[in-house]
Amino acid sequence: MRAFASLSLAVLALALLPSASQTPAPPQAAPKAQSAAPPKPQLVASQSSVAPKAQLAAPRVPPPQVAQTPPMGWNSWNYFFDKVTDKNIRDSADQIVATGMKDAGYVYVNIDDTWEGERDASGVLHSNAKFPDMKALADYVHSKGLKIGIYSSPGPKTCAGYEGSLDHEAQDAQLYASWGIDYLKYDLCSFIPAVMMKQAPNDHAEQMRIMWAAYDKMDKALKATGRPIVFSFCQYGWDAVWEWAPQVGGNLWRTTGDIQPYWDRIYAIASQQAGLESYSGPGHWNDPDMLEVGNGKLTLAENRSHFSWWAILAAPLLAGNDLPNMKPEIKAILTNRDVIAIDQDPLGRQGARAYSEGEVEVWTRPLAGGALAIAVFNVGDNRYSTHPFHLDLARLGLHGPQSGKDLWTGKPITLTDNKPLELPSHDVLLVRVDEPKANVR
Ligand code: GLA
Repeated sequence: MRAFASLSLAVLALALLPSASQTPAPPQAAPKAQSAAPPKPQLVASQSSVAPKAQLAAPRVPPPQVAQTPPMGWNSWNYFFDKVTDKNIRDSADQIVATGMKDAGYVYVNIDDTWEGERDASGVLHSNAKFPDMKALADYVHSKGLKIGIYSSPGPKTCAGYEGSLDHEAQDAQLYASWGIDYLKYDLCSFIPAVMMKQAPNDHAEQMRIMWAAYDKMDKALKATGRPIVFSFCQYGWDAVWEWAPQVGGNLWRTTGDIQPYWDRIYAIASQQAGLESYSGPGHWNDPDMLEVGNGKLTLAENRSHFSWWAILAAPLLAGNDLPNMKPEIKAILTNRDVIAIDQDPLGRQGARAYSEGEVEVWTRPLAGGALAIAVFNVGDNRYSTHPFHLDLARLGLHGPQSGKDLWTGKPITLTDNKPLELPSHDVLLVRVDEPKANVR
């Protein structure tokens, strides 16, 4: 029932918001558990600017300890969808410690949608039967030296049709703080038809102002608790969210519709990040969505590329796989310290596409101390041939042979213009060059 209810909400939203075009649809088969999962809003960012941004005060600076590097952790949605339980969260917290993920930097254990129960006569929200005691669960996660996140919506309902925070923002923020919550993902969903469309049916700018105000309201409610809580916006990139989210407290914001464990979807999302690099930095990050590493039928090459791309993008690294049954090779990807160090680089500068040529994309990311990360992706689909490619160092602002470390083999590598790179389909070469030799002009 709930899935049907949320499906109609999403369909309604898409129909009612003509200015929000749909993402170019990559080939998508249904992921596992998809029948029970709510619909995926497939919206792309509108590049339009609306008046409210100009009226904003100076950026609201988040507490310094929050999200100074892209948040790392795990979220329940990409594997468990609406089936997640208290036990899954505890097991995942245990595994984050046992697998060494905690030591590698993963901190947040985030409960996504479907934990919500009903409100009592005083409006206090209770968790549902899958989560008998949220305070006890938060205490358990904290006892492992980890932090805990939760999920809600500014609308009357969440995307899966559970109770949202509309008109209960302060009460819910206080509730989260009383449980010891450290992170809130706030997902637009039913707010679109229930509030934006209702209050301003024919006025796109006003709809966007209403949306902005909803995030602002929850940010104020979270700040009023006095607890440092990472605030994650989930509104699929609407209204160029990266332009205004930091001013209303956003520590990270989704830039696209939902990810799925298919190369085409991952590649489509990665491509959509090109050009957004100037909006990201310590305390405020572009979020190309949670990781699918280890999910679906992604090949090892695809898992490596996905993880490398998110590191180049300074993306939040929220694993979304089945941790108790994680294969060693997936663990090796998720805990590759060199790649994580790229993602978590203290300079906090998001990487950018340097150039693309045929089926190869070359991205670079400037790192602290003048170092440089270089990622070469073979995005071609022919699985039966490698892709010989000659890197053009001048197009990266470099000159002459560059000595670095191949972060997936762990071995030294020298990049030259004439050396052919043999990259299998959907695989990546990720190199860190600590002392790049710049182009002499
Ligand atoms: C939306 C979000 C997802 C997930 C689901 C939960 O689709 O984009 O990340 O939170 O809602 O219902």
